[in-house]
Order: sequence, then structure tokens, then C-alpha cells
Amino acid sequence: MQAFAPGRVNLIGEHTDYNEGLSLPFAIGAGVTVDAALRTGSERAGGGDSALVSGVVEQLRAAGRRVPAAQTAISSTLEEGEGLASSAALGVAAALALLELAGQRAEPVEVARLCQRAEHRALGTRSGLLDQLASLCGSSGHAVRIDFRSLELTSVPLDLGGWRLGVASSGERRELARSGYNERRQECERAARLLGVGSLRAARSSDVDRLPEPLGRRLAHVLSENDRVERAVIAVGEGDWTGLGELLDASHASLRELYDASTDGVERTAGRLREAGAAGARMMGGGFGGSVLALFAPGAALPYGVREVAPSAGARVVAA
Ligand code: GLA
Repeated sequence: MQAFAPGRVNLIGEHTDYNEGLSLPFAIGAGVTVDAALRTGSERAGGGDSALVSGVVEQLRAAGRRVPAAQTAISSTLEEGEGLASSAALGVAAALALLELAGQRAEPVEVARLCQRAEHRALGTRSGLLDQLASLCGSSGHAVRIDFRSLELTSVPLDLGGWRLGVASSGERRELARSGYNERRQECERAARLLGVGSLRAARSSDVDRLPEPLGRRLAHVLSENDRVERAVIAVGEGDWTGLGELLDASHASLRELYDASTDGVERTAGRLREAGAAGARMMGGGFGGSVLALFAPGAALPYGVREVAPSAGARVVAA
């Protein structure tokens, strides 16, 4: 059985998923393909990527799914550490291939959650559900607005009318990312505890000043980022691409100033893209390295090293 799961670009809504907030990602064309076949010999899986696949098998079984012993082969058009969610794509492709092998079906949210648990255990990053849901629920020509409190997903047509989106790697691998990411998540949990709310989604802007440094700034980012997602959905609907570009820049500034998630390489990359004419640019994903997303007006040449991305179909079984 063969399944393909795409990577994702997050248009806007960063570090909001684990705060029960909002995001607006889309699935891209590049991704990971996993072939799963019934295992006959006695070979064992282990190490690197296959640790994640083993983790997915473990989580499928823990969820009561009868997954047979399988041999998997992985191929990918995404680079690891690029910030396009290659791990989530691998986990999702493996889950879909294994479920198909077992003759079973599962809802996207169930698949997303079990892949998330497998990632937490195999990779040690306490990531949210953004990457898995974007990979599973993307569709060609559409972004998806995700409300992480209700897990309501709304398809948002994204017809760029000649404008183009591209991603550029900052050249910085995300080694620091794991500790930085987990630390931010803990800070948000602490802020929510201090405010007596279940998640930062339930906090208000007047709460910012009630929190000690740096928790107030973390909350200010999350609240303003949720608001930017709503404004981006409107801008996309109206075809207001200049407005969308401004929201990308504002998101970047917030992630740098309020969330302390930027690095020199990311700043250099975002600066280079703006100088090359981008109408907006922002760090994408967990930050602390990774990729920068930029928006270009019709006719503008994409600068060197920029990979064009467009909303593409979500994860699927491709061959029985
Ligand atoms: C990483 C995580 C996601 C999300 C983003 C930040 O990509 O895997 O769950 O938290 O960072 O928005």
C-alpha cells in the first residue's frame, strides 16, 4: 500500500495551535510517500525516520487498530529541517499506508492526534496539531482555517490571481528549535495557569499586563496572531494581497519581538526577500531557524533560492 502526505505552508497563525487558537495553513505539492507491505521475514525497524514510523505503529495499536507487522519504504521530496513539516508528512503517510494495509479507515482528527503523539515520543518536540491537520485536510486551491479549540476546519479558496508565494530556507537547521519550542509552550501553559484559564484562547488583551515578563509578551503575540488570522481570511476573500503582505510582516515582527523566536539567519533571509521586492515576509513554523515565507506581486521574479509553493491536495492513499 502506498500513501502520500504533503508538507505544509502556514500562511499565518504561528504558535497558536497549542494555545487553542487559529491558523491558516495549506498543503503543498511536495511531501513524503510511504510504501507499506506485509512483513514476511524477521527484520526489525529502528533508528532515524523509521523510529517515527515505529511510533506511528505503536500509536495505531494503542488506539485499538489492528496493524499487521509491516515493512515500509520511504521517499520524500521535502528536506528535513526545512520547516515544511516533513516529520508530520512522514507520520501521516505512514499512518494512512498502514491503515490501508489493515483495511481500516480513520477520521483525520484521529490520525492527526496519533501522529502527534508518535512525534512527541520519537522526536521530543511537543508540537501541536497544525502540521498534521494541514497535511491531512488540505485541498487544491484552498487554505484551511483551523480553529484549534473546536477543531472546526473551514476551507478558504486561495486564488492568488497572479501573486505568488515562495519559501526560502534560512540555512539554519532547527537543532535549537526543539528546546526553544518546548520552552515557549511551557511559558504559555504557565501564563494560562496564572490567569486561571484553560488556554490562552480564553485570555483577553487586558490580561497582558497582569503577567510577569516574558509571559505577557507571549500572550500579546498569541492574541494578536489569532486576530491576524481572522484579518488574513478577510484579505484573502477580498483579494487584498497588499493587506495580506502587511499581515505577514506584522506576524514576523510579533514572533521576533514578543515571542523571541527569530534568529540572525531568519532575519537575514526575511530582509533579503523584502529587498528583492516581497510584499511581505515572515518566519514560518516553530521558528528558531527553518524557512521564511514571502509573497510576491505579479511579474516579480522569485529571488534565488526561493521555492514557489501553491495550495495542493491533501494526504491520500495513492496505490493499493
Ligand atoms: C511547528 C509545530 C506546530 C506549530 C508550529 C508553530 O511547526 O509542529 O504544531 O506549533 O511549529 O505555529
